[in-house]
Amino acid sequence: DGGGLLLAIETSCDDTCAAVVARDGEIRSNVISSQGVHDRYGGVVPEVASRHHLELIETVVEDALAQAGTTLPQLDGIAVTQGPGLVGALLVGVATAKALAAAHRLPLVPVDHLHGHVAASFVQPDPIEPPFLILIASGGHTLLAHVKDHGARWGRDGSIEVLGSTRDDAAGEAFDKGARLLGLGYPGGPALQRLAAEGDPEAFAFPVAAQVPGLDFSFSGLKTALLYKTRELGEEETERRRADLAASYQRAIVETLARRVERARAETGIERLAIGGGVAANGPLRERLRRLAPDLHVPPRELCTDNAAMIASAARFAQPVAFPGYLSLDAYSSGER
Ligand code: KG4
Ligand code: ZN
Repeated sequence: DGGGLLLAIETSCDDTCAAVVARDGEIRSNVISSQGVHDRYGGVVPEVASRHHLELIETVVEDALAQAGTTLPQLDGIAVTQGPGLVGALLVGVATAKALAAAHRLPLVPVDHLHGHVAASFVQPDPIEPPFLILIASGGHTLLAHVKDHGARWGRDGSIEVLGSTRDDAAGEAFDKGARLLGLGYPGGPALQRLAAEGDPEAFAFPVAAQVPGLDFSFSGLKTALLYKTRELGEEETERRRADLAASYQRAIVETLARRVERARAETGIERLAIGGGVAANGPLRERLRRLAPDLHVPPRELCTDNAAMIASAARFAQPVAFPGYLSLDAYSSGER
């Protein structure tokens, strides 16, 4: 037996998630209820997300406990994503976690969502040991960080030092917005990757790693470049060359990410590399990074996209708060680091 069990709840965006993970990092259950209601709005609508979390959270938690073969009184503690994310969505998870923890006098572990993405690399059966570099790229964030130990402290002298982040759009957002310009549905990443597979990545020269110094990222210029290109081509020609546009656009995103990783490796001398976030599912990105780092660490897909197992994994290395100290706990949208 792996010892004490942690239940985690994650509701920072549009997926309602709960999971049970043992102290040694073994995943006992990992339940994800994707809302799938945002497609027709072309993105996530915060109020719609909150309402669906409210409707789903009880069932999702019950399923996570049942699949793990455990019950609330048997747990060591309850972890919850405190931020960053949509505050209304986060509050559903935070309120649920508080209520469940308080009812059973369990400790509560507030977890930073990005520490969670890092900790997706710490679970069994294939954990990676710090120090390593990690690229976290999703619809909400694009972050290149140096992971020094398992802990949750951010900063140069802490556990996780951010080396670069995006100045504007996140990498996943760049995929989603590009996909939308090409008439594909939401989320755009997977659809754009499929279309790109039939196109020529050299057909169009889109800007790579544009105009930002150091290890930061910028994607808004790229999106604008695609918009202008489609206007220049006109409707018919854009339609005819959609696959080439997708392939060239995807290549620009992948190159932008990979060149920053390359520079971070040169500057820090750290060769071990992991990726996380929904964009880690992108095949060409993985291939490109594997050429840099053959032992690239990629968690399974369900641990790359938002999930609660990664939050429980992070909670193993975060500070628990005893009852009743956590009753005043708030969610935060951003900027806690
Ligand atoms: O981590 P995630 O599930 O949620 C956020 O925290 O945002 O990431 C979702 C993002 C979306 O922008 C989606 O388009 C992108 O990840 N994504 C992909 C692929 N699969 C998902 N982007 C590129 N290629 C993919 N195969
Ligand atoms: Zn995320």
